[in-house]
Amino acid sequence: MKGASPSLLLGVTGSIAAYKSLDLIRRLREEGVTVRVVATSNARHFFPLLSAEVFSDHKVETDLFSGGEGSGRIRHLALLDSADLLLIAPASANFIARLSLGVADDLLSTIALSARIPILLAPAMEEAMYVHPATEEHRVRLAGRGVIEIAPEEGALASGRSGQGRMASVERIIEAVRQNLSSLPSSSGNNALSGLHVLISSGPTYEPLDPVRFIGNRSSGRMGMALVRAAREQGARVTLVTGPTALTAPPGVDVHAVETAREMKASLDELFPSCDILVMAAAVSDYSPVSALTDKRKKNGNGWSLNLQENPDILKALAARRRPGQYLVGFAAESTLDREKLLQKCRAKGVDLLVANDISNPFTGFGSSENEALLLTPEGSCHPVSKRSKEALARIIFENIPLPRRPSDGKQ
Ligand SMILES: Cc1cc2nc3c(=O)[nH]c(=O)nc-3n(C[C@H](O)[C@H](O)[C@H](O)COP(=O)(O)O)c2cc1C
Repeated sequence: MKGASPSLLLGVTGSIAAYKSLDLIRRLREEGVTVRVVATSNARHFFPLLSAEVFSDHKVETDLFSGGEGSGRIRHLALLDSADLLLIAPASANFIARLSLGVADDLLSTIALSARIPILLAPAMEEAMYVHPATEEHRVRLAGRGVIEIAPEEGALASGRSGQGRMASVERIIEAVRQNLSSLPSSSGNNALSGLHVLISSGPTYEPLDPVRFIGNRSSGRMGMALVRAAREQGARVTLVTGPTALTAPPGVDVHAVETAREMKASLDELFPSCDILVMAAAVSDYSPVSALTDKRKKNGNGWSLNLQENPDILKALAARRRPGQYLVGFAAESTLDREKLLQKCRAKGVDLLVANDISNPFTGFGSSENEALLLTPEGSCHPVSKRSKEALARIIFENIPLPRRPSDGKQ
């Protein structure tokens, strides 16, 4: 923390949702956060600057070249010097694109490009803009650089249509700020996992064929990272075992990076005894080459037949050695969702909850920001969760875990 209280720069851009930023300022200040507002010139059409100055008790900054308070210093750097976090809420499609491209042609974009503090984005726009491939590419690229998106929600939009694109609720934004400002305590009502150790596996595995090639899969690690955030939000101690991914875990998470299915198994074998809840969201390769070449294979006109072996079933093996009180969640990526077969799978794997998703739908699952799922238990219950952000699904998964579980004592 750079000052006596945590300090946040709130970027406001030209979205109709900018009126909600006033409430956000008020709530952040109630949490004891100092808020300095930086607005784009287009935000002025949607955002009452004078009200924001009254609510934040600071001048709203708009001009890169004005000098302003602390003149003699470079304005954007002076503002960053005293900030612990940059939150852009609402983030317009235009601003997301500019941030992804590294454009720095006004005060807010120059601050964002110079920032070495966590950056949180709360997108707000019509669904057509949010799901546009250009916006999707920019969001994925920003996530790869560690920019944290607070996913928008589904519901009525400014146009009168319904869809995904509503800015996340003020309370969800505050919770995301809380997670990234370690000096802010967790909200009292949201500590269901406090004192519990949650172990999460995430991402793909890569099985090497030779020094440059591998067998992998399309998992981006987003579902796993959404689970990590949800567990942190609810006060858990979180350990993440992740295959190769461009995503960055939030602060405070114990991260174990692995590459192959066997490395993932070794890591989970070691960590499993001390966890209270295991969530296996990783897309672990079912097969690996019997042996990998030590030198890069060159073309020789004969093709290349691969000899593959089945990898061990990590989840089933862990379930077989669980201790009383441990709760296990498995994921199943299926081309069709057949309830009876999924129930059999849930029982065969020995998990308490199976989250099944349909990977044939191009708008959900691998690489997408959304997912829909069936939640099944070995007792035979089957609860469909309609399409929503992976963050929202992650919260629902934890809500479906009966608590309290026996807190881990950290011993093996
Ligand atoms: C009435 C109206 C509402 C708008 N609402 C949004 C919105 O919610 N989200 C968005 O990304 N763009 C919205 N736009 C378009 C942006 O204002 C426009 O892309 C602008 O260039 C964004 O500027 P900025 O990113 O520099 O703030 C809206 C435009 C109008 C005229």
